[in-house]
Amino acid sequence: MIDATDALRVEDLSIAYGTAPPSVSGVSLRVRKGEIVGVIGESGSGKSSIALAMMGLLPDSARVAASTMEIAGSDMKGATELDWGQVRGLKASMVFQEPMSALNPCMRIGPQIAEVLQIHGKADKKQARARALEILRLVQMPDAEKRLDYYPHQLSGGQRQRVVIAIAVAAGPDLLVADEPTTALDVTVQAQILDLIRSLRDETGMGVLFISHDLGVIGQLCERVAVMYRGRVVETGTARRVLEDPQHPYTKALLESIPRPSVPVRSPLAVIPAVNDFAEVPAVLEEAS
Ligand SMILES: Nc1ncnc2c1ncn2[C@@H]1O[C@H](COP(=O)(O)OP(=O)(O)O)[C@@H](O)[C@H]1O
Ligand SMILES: [Mg+2]
Repeated sequence: MIDATDALRVEDLSIAYGTAPPSVSGVSLRVRKGEIVGVIGESGSGKSSIALAMMGLLPDSARVAASTMEIAGSDMKGATELDWGQVRGLKASMVFQEPMSALNPCMRIGPQIAEVLQIHGKADKKQARARALEILRLVQMPDAEKRLDYYPHQLSGGQRQRVVIAIAVAAGPDLLVADEPTTALDVTVQAQILDLIRSLRDETGMGVLFISHDLGVIGQLCERVAVMYRGRVVETGTARRVLEDPQHPYTKALLESIPRPSVPVRSPLAVIPAVNDFAEVPAVLEEAS
């Protein structure tokens, strides 16, 4: 049943590229409106594949199957490109890791935001600049009015990511999928972008699927978290419970591999063994309360 309070609901998602074994299998995720859900896992665990599947952006070589796939009340199971066109930007949008490649380098910032508003019928040509300015202020861009006329190369990395986020939230989506949006930024800027995502969630009530390989980032931002290992979710729960009291051996190993100030510098860092054993351990799944 479609629940109006859900931004995203996917059940038993699997994704396979070409004839390779599935890169993602049996994944179920739920993001309520107003909730930030983290997906954490090492490189290659299938996080970006899930993000792209939620936007209908996987390459043609990918085969996607799910028993449920709903985005803000729209059933996207078996959706065509035309169906995705009705959802992308309006109901769900995405922020990628590298802001420069998400922006048009030859176009000023203002028109890039205005264009999105016009495409989605959120502003006509006359209103578009004023509305673009409002959105640039919403993402807390310093000197927003002046920066409407800047080109992407005139902005810092953090400011560019603010513009990408502005474009993503311009049409008021119910779901924001953010795939490692702070990984390319330095630590202080990273913290500012996390604050921004939190405050946009508070203001707009959108749900956020936040993907990261960084447990610290997930702990700062997310209410709930799903831990991915080799294409499967091995543990879910509140971020606090999973980080403070991990149950699955993979989650425990992941937590132990983070350097901590309390551990003497010379002691070796725990390394996650490259074995299949974790996949054999049953997943620890908590339904969100
Ligand atoms: N376009 C693609 N074609 C073929 N295989 C892919 C493609 N994208 C991802 N994969 C494979 O899917 C697996 C998961 O990748 P990905 O979803 O990018 O993981 P993550 O984002 O967690 O690093 C990897 O084994 C990767 O090689
Ligand atoms: Mg990735």
